[in-house]
Amino acid sequence: MSEPTATRSFDIDPLLARRSSPRAFSATDTLNQDLLGPAFEAARWAPSSGNSQPWSFVVGFRGDDTFGKIVESMATGNSVWAAHASAVVACVARMENEEGKALSHSVYDLGQAVAHFSVQATAEGLIVHQMAGFDSQALHASLGLDARHQVITLFAVGTPGDPADLPEKLREREALPRVRKPLAEVVTGSVSYA
Ligand SMILES: Cc1cc2nc3c(=O)[nH]c(=O)nc-3n(C[C@H](O)[C@H](O)[C@H](O)COP(=O)(O)O)c2cc1C
Repeated sequence: MSEPTATRSFDIDPLLARRSSPRAFSATDTLNQDLLGPAFEAARWAPSSGNSQPWSFVVGFRGDDTFGKIVESMATGNSVWAAHASAVVACVARMENEEGKALSHSVYDLGQAVAHFSVQATAEGLIVHQMAGFDSQALHASLGLDARHQVITLFAVGTPGDPADLPEKLREREALPRVRKPLAEVVTGSVSYA
């Protein structure tokens, strides 16, 4: 897989530099729970507020019922490419503790766990693409979750496919350079990055 165009002010670890969110997944390669195990283990070891670990993940493999439910909840702009992935995952946050008190950082904690997952998955040669474009309430119902939990995001995970197989518009998007705000815009205080 070629590294998408990116400019950086500082060198970062090659693993982090390699991570990106491609849309071209192999529609024939398959994954299983053992192949995803290291990435979920990495997610498990993410830090969380008060070690609350308010995350959980519902996994579907291409062709099974859970995969169908997750893909069905996606906006069509996402399902058009994500349905080819070997697996799709619903990322669930627990929003309240046992006493009904709001867990105010659970969405933040879940995001960190997914970040850990995506970096470990990259190390394993997998690609991960996160999504907010889906019907969270419909998926909550079809997965039979309780009121304390919310589906915050989805991600597709698999092995790289050929971008040439994507619809033309998506193919063009894949070829765009990856861009970021400058460090000076997002890091302030006692620093002054160029
Ligand atoms: C919370 C979240 C929601 C996202 N939602 C979508 C989505 O619905 N559809 C999509 O194609 N990409 C989605 N993305 C992927 C982002 O567009 C992508 O991470 C961003 O453009 C930066 O690109 P990179 O991951 O390749 O560095 C989402 C990413 C995150 C973290």
